Amino acid sequence: MACLVVIGTQWGDEGKGKLVDLLAEGAQAVARFQGGNNAGHTLVVDGDKFIFHLIPSGVLHEDKTCYIGNGVVVDPEVLLSEMERLEARGVKVGPQKLRISERAQVIMPYHQALDMAREKAKGKEAIGTTGRGIGPCYEDKVSRVGVRMIDLLETDTLAAKVEENCAAKNYVLTGYLNSAGLPAEPIIAQYLEFGRRLAPFIGDVAVELNDVLTSGGNVLMEGAQGTHLDIDHGTYPYVTSSNPVAGSACTGAGVGVTRLNQVWGVVKAYTTRVGGGPFLTELTDDTGQWLQKTGDEYGATTGRPRRCGWLDGVVVRHSVRLSGITGLCVTKLDVLTGLDTIKFCVGYRTAEGQEIQRVPASLKQLGGCTPVYEELPGWSEDITGCRAWDELPTNCRAYLERLSEFVGAPLAIVSVGPGREETIALM
Ligand code: GTP
Repeated sequence: MACLVVIGTQWGDEGKGKLVDLLAEGAQAVARFQGGNNAGHTLVVDGDKFIFHLIPSGVLHEDKTCYIGNGVVVDPEVLLSEMERLEARGVKVGPQKLRISERAQVIMPYHQALDMAREKAKGKEAIGTTGRGIGPCYEDKVSRVGVRMIDLLETDTLAAKVEENCAAKNYVLTGYLNSAGLPAEPIIAQYLEFGRRLAPFIGDVAVELNDVLTSGGNVLMEGAQGTHLDIDHGTYPYVTSSNPVAGSACTGAGVGVTRLNQVWGVVKAYTTRVGGGPFLTELTDDTGQWLQKTGDEYGATTGRPRRCGWLDGVVVRHSVRLSGITGLCVTKLDVLTGLDTIKFCVGYRTAEGQEIQRVPASLKQLGGCTPVYEELPGWSEDITGCRAWDELPTNCRAYLERLSEFVGAPLAIVSVGPGREETIALM
């Protein structure tokens, strides 16, 4: 493995959590490199359900070290409560087990206040953010006024940054967004306390991860969200504030490009999307509702119902290009069981009648496109007990083979249920 990156190829919620947990078995280190507590990885281990928003999914393995890279935005309150909840369930999270980059940006209360006030002000035009301050935190990073984890350990630095930021943000909150401002002093006191509690976990994650690789250890890089939510490559502006593409593992964890060996892309066997934004293969009919119900498509973080539709090969193929995906991990295949016919999108027909196989940057152009489908026969056999390729029904294998052929990447894993064991490994 050496360094394997696992990313989502659609709009997130592909089931990366289960795969990362599974793949973590062969790794010494599991690292997150982007996003914040807007991720919601759900793991089911021996029938027990765990949901992680910030801590890498590998945490359930006793002998692994989990890393939160510099590209992640950290809400210390959420992190501490996640650690406490894990400890309450018998999973010890000490400084040997969890490492946090001193360069990671910190989500502050004014980020959340701005996030929520802006979404409210936008009304119907809202992006559908999770309201956790992630976007405003990344804005501050780029504006060079962000608070980093290391600042929580230096009283003067933190106080100066919070005072300056509160003054600037309160001006916007009270002046433009019709919202309450926030006083700096309680924030400084609270975040110094967070710093005191988290100090043993804070370190130079880039150095530590490189040391693991140099000493021959395996590192698993855990992406959050999905490629088409990427701030650069996604359906802008209906995107997240970071880069879920594989290249971001290098910048977001401090590991060189030449150290990445493999990139596995997680593909849900159909498509889902949360919040607004274009979704060409969306089904607003009974089949869409059936997928939502059968696939239990409700957000792990927000509980919001997910929009559902057919698998969009154009979307996945673009993800294969953008991240150089070397293996596909297809999840939730079991959800499709029982459908007579399954549609698979292999192109977009533009308003002018031209067939294209890429995702146009213009939302106007994209909105005018209609999906071009291939129809494949479904299967009715229960596949949750299948543990080998040959045990899958013929039509099911044909669907997977067509996907792999169309997107141009080999199959690595097929997931036929939420449990660890409900998996077929092909690589
Ligand atoms: P984000 O990083 O937020 O995008 O999350 P994610 O990609 O880890 O997806 P998440 O864990 O939120 O959603 C996947 C859901 O599907 C969870 O409830 C999993 O237990 C479940 N799941 C994963 N694989 C399978 C599968 O093969 N079949 C079924 N039925 N459920 C699955």
